[in-house]
Amino acid sequence: MRRLLLPAALLLTATGCLSMGGSSSRGTAAKPAAPPRPALVTAANVALGDSLFNNGGCMRCHGAKGVGGANGPALNDQQWVQFAEGTYENIRALIVSGVPAAKITDPSRKNPMGARGGRMNLSDAQIDAVAAYVWTLSHP
Ligand code: HEC
Repeated sequence: MRRLLLPAALLLTATGCLSMGGSSSRGTAAKPAAPPRPALVTAANVALGDSLFNNGGCMRCHGAKGVGGANGPALNDQQWVQFAEGTYENIRALIVSGVPAAKITDPSRKNPMGARGGRMNLSDAQIDAVAAYVWTLSHP
């Protein structure tokens, strides 16, 4: 029992600090703690993913830097239509599978997203990189 007291006290102190910090700087109060950076989100992967995304096929539908386009949703916000949370794993799995017509949630988007970037036919390492880049768009 006595062993539990110290961590509990630390937790209370930490919570107190967080709420104090939030009230002093505008807009930060509601922000959840930043998730840890996934292991594959390396500088090299983000750079490679950037060039694949913005010179390759992804920006055709999702817009340059993933701001969104007529055929693909924005990837730089924290809102997701294909999964609840934009974790690295969810993003990576979706790039592997693509989005077949039947799974498109917004019927105004007519063009399915090809598996592995469709014609880009991304390798596993390239998918690691594109997923790393896409993850950074919503985790600045
Ligand atoms: C032909 C158009 C097209 C291309 C090219 C394309 N996508 Fe998509 N993407 C879509 C559509 C359509 C959806 C699903 C939108 C919906 O459900 O309304 C989607 C969904 C996504 C999502 C999930 C977004 C969310 O809000 O849940 C991610 C992540 C994504 N695409 C990444 C990529 C990446 C990375 C590439 C390049 C390898 C790519 N897409 C290429 C059309 C495209």
